[in-house]
Amino acid sequence: MSDKPWGGRFDAPTNAFVEAFNASTDVDQRMYAQDIEGSRAHATMLHRQSILSSNELKKILNGLDEIEGEIERGEFAFLIELEDVHMNIERRLTERVGEAGKKLHTARSRNDQVATGTRLYLRQRTDHVLDLLRQFQMVLVDIAQREHDTIMPGFTHLQSAQPVTFGHHMLAYVEMLDRDHGRFCDARKRMNECPLGSAALAGTTFNIDRQFTSDQLGFDRPCANSLDGVSDRDFVVELLAASSLCAVHLSRFCEELILWMSAQFSFIELSDAFCTGSSIMPQKKNPDMPELIRGKTGRIVGGLVTMLVNLKSLPLAYNKDMQEDKAAVFDTFDQLSASLRICIDMLPEMTVNRDKLYDAASSGHATATDLADHLVRAGVSFRDAHAIVGKAVAYCIRTKKELHTLSVNECADLDAHLSAEMISSLSVEACVAARKHLGGCAPQQVQMQCTLWKDRLENQDA
Ligand code: ARG
Repeated sequence: MSDKPWGGRFDAPTNAFVEAFNASTDVDQRMYAQDIEGSRAHATMLHRQSILSSNELKKILNGLDEIEGEIERGEFAFLIELEDVHMNIERRLTERVGEAGKKLHTARSRNDQVATGTRLYLRQRTDHVLDLLRQFQMVLVDIAQREHDTIMPGFTHLQSAQPVTFGHHMLAYVEMLDRDHGRFCDARKRMNECPLGSAALAGTTFNIDRQFTSDQLGFDRPCANSLDGVSDRDFVVELLAASSLCAVHLSRFCEELILWMSAQFSFIELSDAFCTGSSIMPQKKNPDMPELIRGKTGRIVGGLVTMLVNLKSLPLAYNKDMQEDKAAVFDTFDQLSASLRICIDMLPEMTVNRDKLYDAASSGHATATDLADHLVRAGVSFRDAHAIVGKAVAYCIRTKKELHTLSVNECADLDAHLSAEMISSLSVEACVAARKHLGGCAPQQVQMQCTLWKDRLENQDA
């Protein structure tokens, strides 16, 4: 008989390489606190249901406390022969408290144990990400407030399009991060059901109290179907999907920082603390942090694909394939949380080169749409106005001018409808100030949105 917790029906020992291949301790030991928490709730429930004596419960709870201490102090040796965090802790419990330890697994299986522990662990990690998202939004709102009237070029196709305000640009990301926050909240809601009591797959013959363990562990309710409770990992997929989209948002933001920090743009400067140099080119100051965050996206989206393919065609109920969920989702949470942390610390130290932004907004004929709008207000149809301004832009390109520098005579030559007043009102300030409707880029609108956001973010239950 082998020494495994499941060794009864085995004659020969496990192949040595299989021991290592089969084990998940290196990945799942970080869930030790949640495994212990689940065991406490389970044991307490067994005692309430008269399945464990008071003495047995006491021994188990003391033993679990001691094991938690051992792990926290780094004194616990996780053995790969014991496969995972669950069997390592259970075996140690029996070593410490004897017979009572062997009773802990009554009416439980590792299948509901791991499903419970993973949900508890990911719930905590999700709460941390939710907090980081709010912090990052706050950082961006602060910048938006400070730069509410900083004029910059807005781009489409990465070509100069229309002037916008820097604050407005920051607030666009605040909105994206808010939807990311919402997606994590949604995933958390669906995840927060307790699989404990599903046992291996079919439930248990013991008179257990699933509502009690669910309540003890802060779940909203017990999972309603034992097969589903142990065999789906859709909550992992949802968290990975929310993480992937969030990482994609971060990659877009970081891509802009990288472009903006190049000598060719010079819109911003990141502080030395968040940049690195080159081993050969002495002039270099590289935006490695935004680049790395952009690069993490591949890894995070990879985690989502890993889990979708992992679950595809898996028959009910538990299959060992699902042990692969943790490496993917833990890495994703580590990378996403670290990326958000860097953003939160890096952005307040960013310098915004207002003059550069202003000059860039003032070149590239970005006021052309506004000139067309002026023509429309003077009675020209929009399509004709578009053509007239297009002609004016072509003239400016030929003569190396900007629209706002056209003289009265040049206007008259281009089109009879073009007036000197239209040209003189073509400042970039006027362009952004005019867009003062809800959702527009006008400084007053940015300030209003900042006030709304501050209010929401400071009253965090929103
Ligand atoms: N380490 C396993 C996992 O992460 C625990 C469940 C194993 N159950 C089993 N019957 N082999 O999925």
